[in-house]
Amino acid sequence: MARPVTVLCVGDVFGEPGRRAVQALLPKLRKQHEVDVAVVNIENAAGGFGVTPQIARATFECGADVLTSGNHIWDKKEIVEYIVKENLLLRPANFPPGTPGVGSAVVKAGPHKVAVLNLMGRVFLPATDCPFRKADEEIERLRQETALIVVDCHCEATSESQAMGWYLDGRVSAVVGTHRHVQTADERLLPQGTAYITDLGMTGPVDSVIGVDPQLAIGRFLSQMHVRFEAAKGPAALHGALIRIDPDTGRALSIERLSVPAPA
Ligand SMILES: [Fe+2]
Repeated sequence: MARPVTVLCVGDVFGEPGRRAVQALLPKLRKQHEVDVAVVNIENAAGGFGVTPQIARATFECGADVLTSGNHIWDKKEIVEYIVKENLLLRPANFPPGTPGVGSAVVKAGPHKVAVLNLMGRVFLPATDCPFRKADEEIERLRQETALIVVDCHCEATSESQAMGWYLDGRVSAVVGTHRHVQTADERLLPQGTAYITDLGMTGPVDSVIGVDPQLAIGRFLSQMHVRFEAAKGPAALHGALIRIDPDTGRALSIERLSVPAPA
């Protein structure tokens, strides 16, 4: 068998602590695990809400090949102009037709190609087109170029993520979840060869409520009033998964969860 293709998927980068973790750890992890393609979900990288062109560029420079996103992609308005020109920063493919940007990309991995597809769920999230039918459409098109396809499925409901995993089993190499900011311990290979994890977890501040300063989050719960959220400070960690894929078939060989503390 040919040397496996290794894809590193990094979960939602949150605020300055998340960016610090990526800057410190992504180059090292690439080397340590001989990563061919790194996919980083970036939608919370700017103070927890959205991403700026400057942050996107810095993340590419430290080793990301493709950036994915979700419901927060438009929080920083300057990203609209950037995403039109930068096809490796994805927004969910099932956003309405005519939305700026694209929802999938194909990148080189040595002699092979890896496609990355970004989808967003519809349960407890803003309305979008059907992610399942959009997946059918996109996968049919992408498979003409490569059988190595990694899907970032940005969902709130665990059931929607699991349904997508089973729906795409055997048609893509991996379905990884993002958005919840808490890593799930359910990584596995599905029967037809798709690697699956409900959520990669967050890359950001450890002492937080899904990235936010705990006192601010508690304040909102107690008062039921709008409290302006800020990213928590302190130690950070990178969460994600390493997926090894057989380049001859596109089937996943393994999936391994990562939880790596960032240096202080
Ligand atoms: Fe999200």
